[in-house]
Amino acid sequence: MDASRCILTREMETIPNLTDIDIYIQHGGYQTVEKALKMMKPEEVVKAVTDSGLKGRGGAGFPTGRKWSLLANRFPRYLCCNADESEPASFKDRKLLEGNPHRVIEGMILTSYANGINLGYIYIRGEFFQIIEQMDRAFAQAYERGYLGKNILGTGFDLDLYTHPGAGAYICGEETGLIESLEGNRPYPRLKPPYFPAAIGLWQAPTIVNNVETMADVALVVEHGADWFKGFGTEDSTGSRLFGLCGHVKKPGLYELESTITLRSLIYDVGGGVRGDKKLKAVIPGGISAPVLTPDELDVTMEFGEMAKAGTMGGTGGVVVMDETVCMVDALLNISMFARHESCGQCTPCREGMPWINDMLRRIEQGHGRQEDIDLLLDVCFNIEGRTVCVFGQAPGVWPTRSFIVKYLPEFQAHIEQHKCVVLPVEESYLRKENVEMLGVGVFRAKNS
Ligand SMILES: Cc1cc2nc3c(=O)[nH]c(=O)nc-3n(C[C@H](O)[C@H](O)[C@H](O)COP(=O)(O)O)c2cc1C
Repeated sequence: MDASRCILTREMETIPNLTDIDIYIQHGGYQTVEKALKMMKPEEVVKAVTDSGLKGRGGAGFPTGRKWSLLANRFPRYLCCNADESEPASFKDRKLLEGNPHRVIEGMILTSYANGINLGYIYIRGEFFQIIEQMDRAFAQAYERGYLGKNILGTGFDLDLYTHPGAGAYICGEETGLIESLEGNRPYPRLKPPYFPAAIGLWQAPTIVNNVETMADVALVVEHGADWFKGFGTEDSTGSRLFGLCGHVKKPGLYELESTITLRSLIYDVGGGVRGDKKLKAVIPGGISAPVLTPDELDVTMEFGEMAKAGTMGGTGGVVVMDETVCMVDALLNISMFARHESCGQCTPCREGMPWINDMLRRIEQGHGRQEDIDLLLDVCFNIEGRTVCVFGQAPGVWPTRSFIVKYLPEFQAHIEQHKCVVLPVEESYLRKENVEMLGVGVFRAKNS
């Protein structure tokens, strides 16, 4: 994608002081609010977003327009913009909020107008304390200029928006955990059904939960139109996306690209290849919850559908590149430590299963693994999947565990057989696709997501 087509990041990179509302307005900011509130009916905004094909950027890739159309026909309704961004390897929302906060506020105003909402929150991860302060300033500026508050731009539409800091728990990014947290409760996720936020959300009212990048994209759709937005990417994955490239790559960073790019091109053409020109061993394509891909699986495009066909997911767009020096058992041990720490503890399979997985992996990594541990690990995964209230058990738990073990089985077995940490040469470390399929262990069960 040529640089002139990058909108969100180009604005951030080329316009100094874009966080100041005056600068933002000078560059056309908030015109969509004038346009929508004065010239469009709420349902026209919903239609534009539906027609644009925009899919949520928070991880699940659910179509935004469809989510909005599922709102129960009750009022009041609320908006929660999800800025929890706790998924390891994901940093796009942080960068967007740091560099372009008014774009996100614009999207929140448009979303509220479209859905008959008069009160909204942006739930921000607690560690982002500077962003929380900056958002408070940005909201204050928007109130001063009449884009928030009572009778916005004289149109009769009222909207109040607030920041709400989280306290650093990963589970607060899960939409119903976020809602519980906003209500002041322990963030135990709610059962869906019946607690789909669009039906029964914040304060039991219909609620929209959308990701930060999704909100910014809503502003782009209203500004340029659904057809313009669809001009990027493919029918399955419209618009541009923010990819956070990190790990053992020469040029890590945040890149705004069309999803038509392949993973290989993202790593080698955009990211400059693997650090130190070492061999590539593994890639996690969408935040640590996304099943890992081997060097044979890099020719997949970053489209949501293509990623799913490849047995993984686009997720948050956080891409982790791992070179030949990585011990795959150790890498998975690291992920499982996170999952163990972050399990909220509400559901027994997750609360107990995450520490079991972590303990077994530590045992294997330290050379004390037993032959039966591989089966036991897969069995624990089986007993977590689909047996918990939310997807946490699967996302940073089962999906990485199962995909690492099944695909990099030779390296796990070498640890067990040689009773020590063994980093095999890349070619010997993983199973070829057909062999993984022969094992008959689905590494990723999208139906449960
Ligand atoms: C364990 C877990 C953690 C999540 N963390 C986040 C997060 O930090 N930010 C986010 O936007 N979505 C996160 N999600 C997804 C949200 O539940 C929800 O799908 C999303 O905010 C909806 O926004 P979207 O439709 O714009 O993608 C998480 C989901 C799960 C299961």
